[in-house]
Amino acid sequence: MKVVKWILGVLGAIVILLAIAAFVVKSKGEAKIAVQYPMEYDEAVISSDSASLALGKYLAESHGCQKCHGMDYSGTTVVDAPPFLVNASNLTAGKGGVGSQFTDGDWLRAVRHGVGGDGRGLLIMPSEAYYHLSDQEVGALIANLKQVSPVDHELARSEFRLLGKLIMGMSDDMKLAPDMMLGTPRLQMPEKGPTAEWGEYRASVLCQVCHGVGLTGGQPPDPESLPAPDLRTTQSWGLEGFMRTLREGVTPANRALNPEMMPWEAVGHLDDIEIEALYKYISTL
Ligand code: HEC
Ligand code: HEC
Repeated sequence: MKVVKWILGVLGAIVILLAIAAFVVKSKGEAKIAVQYPMEYDEAVISSDSASLALGKYLAESHGCQKCHGMDYSGTTVVDAPPFLVNASNLTAGKGGVGSQFTDGDWLRAVRHGVGGDGRGLLIMPSEAYYHLSDQEVGALIANLKQVSPVDHELARSEFRLLGKLIMGMSDDMKLAPDMMLGTPRLQMPEKGPTAEWGEYRASVLCQVCHGVGLTGGQPPDPESLPAPDLRTTQSWGLEGFMRTLREGVTPANRALNPEMMPWEAVGHLDDIEIEALYKYISTL
């Protein structure tokens, strides 16, 4: 009997310790999530001349904004899983959208720094990549968004659930977008052309977020995605094989790429100059 009591006592102590540990970890996670980021950041000019609007539409299409925010930009649910509910915001000026409230500064802070209209760090929104968009490109992107048709669509706020708070508290690698860019110098946009320099710029704002720094492979922001492979293996494909893969989603070895994970339908909007530039850049790696 004494032994049983002793075992129960030890088990009870373990349960209490675990509960305390979980509480500490959850509180740490909650504190990380609740951080309010500063509201003032750099400025870029947002001009709505027709060339900027056309550039902005091209950038939105090739960078896959609609994949998460919906074809009409009215928002979608990106993840609804035990750790998190992640809703990509309605970006239009309709009911439930940010378009009617956002100032130019709010747009810039969200797109480039990953800080939402309410000062929260955004989830899944790949701002750590868009951080490197030049003033000209980010301005064009926003100018185009500011004039899309308003759509009424109210979505619940994204949230961390208990498991998500525990994950956030446990892992120091789990960072919100604003923390990822701290102290990173912004790339200078080179002159556009079929050059490795331009390819490096585009890869930094578009491919690197999934394929990793130097495109050597990485984990996309969507925790449910397959890893993104090392792109140096495409060096042997030839420009034509590379271009066909991005435009049609099928590799030279006849493997179909999963469009849910590798957004080739968006990336395939890049013009020939940009795809050649990307290929030249990858060839230097
Ligand atoms: C992988 C999915 C994904 C892609 C691609 C994406 N977004 Fe987002 N975006 C999100 C999510 C999710 C949120 C809301 C996050 C949250 O609530 O924490 C968001 C939030 C935003 C916000 C802030 C709105 C607010 O509620 O404060 C803006 C602005 C925005 N995105 C613009 C863009 C633009 C422009 C692009 C393309 C260049 C883009 N997004 C591409 C997922 C994405
Ligand atoms: C949202 C994440 C994401 C982005 C952004 C992205 N990729 Fe991918 N990519 C993936 C994933 C995941 C795979 C693997 C897909 C599969 O196997 O079905 C992949 C596969 C590929 C492949 C096939 C590689 C092989 O060996 O079969 C190529 C080529 C490729 N990506 C090029 C690019 C380029 C170039 C860019 C930027 C212009 C880019 N990707 C942007 C996630 C991404």
